[in-house]
Amino acid sequence: MRRSSFFLFCALYCPTLLCLSCIAQKNSNARPAKDLLPIIEKNFTDAAAQYKLLTKNLPADKFPKTFFPTTGQYEFSGSGWWCSGFYPGTLFYLYEQTKDPALYAEAVRALQLLEKEKNNTTTHDLGFMMYCSFGNANKMAPKPEYKEILLTSAKSLASRFNPKVGCIKSWDSKPGDYLVIIDNMMNLELLFWATKVSGDSSFYKIAVTHANTTMKNHFRADFSSYHVINYNPVTGEVQQKRTAQGAADESAWARGQAWGLYGFTVMYRETKDVKYLEQAKHIANFIIHHPNLPADKIPYWDFNAPGIPDALRDASAASIIASALIELSSYTDPESSKEYLDITETILRSLSAVKYKAAAGTNGGFILQHGVGHMPNKTEVDTPLTYADYYFVEAMERYKKLWK
Ligand code: GLY
Repeated sequence: MRRSSFFLFCALYCPTLLCLSCIAQKNSNARPAKDLLPIIEKNFTDAAAQYKLLTKNLPADKFPKTFFPTTGQYEFSGSGWWCSGFYPGTLFYLYEQTKDPALYAEAVRALQLLEKEKNNTTTHDLGFMMYCSFGNANKMAPKPEYKEILLTSAKSLASRFNPKVGCIKSWDSKPGDYLVIIDNMMNLELLFWATKVSGDSSFYKIAVTHANTTMKNHFRADFSSYHVINYNPVTGEVQQKRTAQGAADESAWARGQAWGLYGFTVMYRETKDVKYLEQAKHIANFIIHHPNLPADKIPYWDFNAPGIPDALRDASAASIIASALIELSSYTDPESSKEYLDITETILRSLSAVKYKAAAGTNGGFILQHGVGHMPNKTEVDTPLTYADYYFVEAMERYKKLWK
């Protein structure tokens, strides 16, 4: 059979065969950047050494928050801070890469401090806090107690859902307000996990309803997102669209765009509903083609920050975008996949260079420098951040796994 006749035969009679050949072609287009893999391996080794320094300086009842290189001072938190899960989560990822038992032991120690947050119904951040920590622990070494802790956490998170609004409440506020932030998309993965292990579909339904409401109200025509939507808790109507951590109500706060990209990519993974894939692609398009995205692909803290090109960059937004784009690249056509992986590689190279990756023994043991936590509040501005480190390590692990 001639080659062209063979493909016609396949198209007419063997759609599965043709589909498989498309996948093979897609995979054959993908290739690792050979020089990046050894850089990543060195980053894992260096990161493990840094986190041991961080551990050494950590009070036994606290979690790391940030470090001020100019004064040499740390800021620590209790387990109720939204970032408490990132420290054990990063240690688990680094243990996976290095097999250093000290990292695992320290992660497990931190989990004991964190466990009580499973009953915390005053925050929407339980996905960050419990799924990045206990979720990672359970993926590596499943245990009935981890399952119980994660299911209880999912119930606590679900208790904040208002069916009239169609969203989980992010921040408690004054009566008459119902505040939902784009970051909340990151907490939904815990709910999908809960339905899978319990068979209770209510978690899944809450996640899907929250995502649909967010798609409807959080996004602008260019697929950038508002940070905060204030709903009427009785009628569900939108009362206000505004920012809390961005430069302005109508600006595109960089980490918010990153949370949206990651969140809708997870939505597609968990539901296989193409509307979420399209949403994630639109968000990716907004980010990677934005005229204010610098050549090294580390975003300014807000795409519309005053003072660009002298505005501060946010390493945390870059890490989250890199991790999300790697996953998204596995769901898209070869051309988009290549574009996403090219951007990811640029981000990983930039974060691995001296400008962002801390020199050994510096930065209080954090891996990355130059994150922006809350610019309007003037807190954690141009400092290391636990979530910049967490998603950087996750992105490198995902990148490495692509080629296995
Ligand atoms: N979830 C809070 C932040 O991204 O700063």
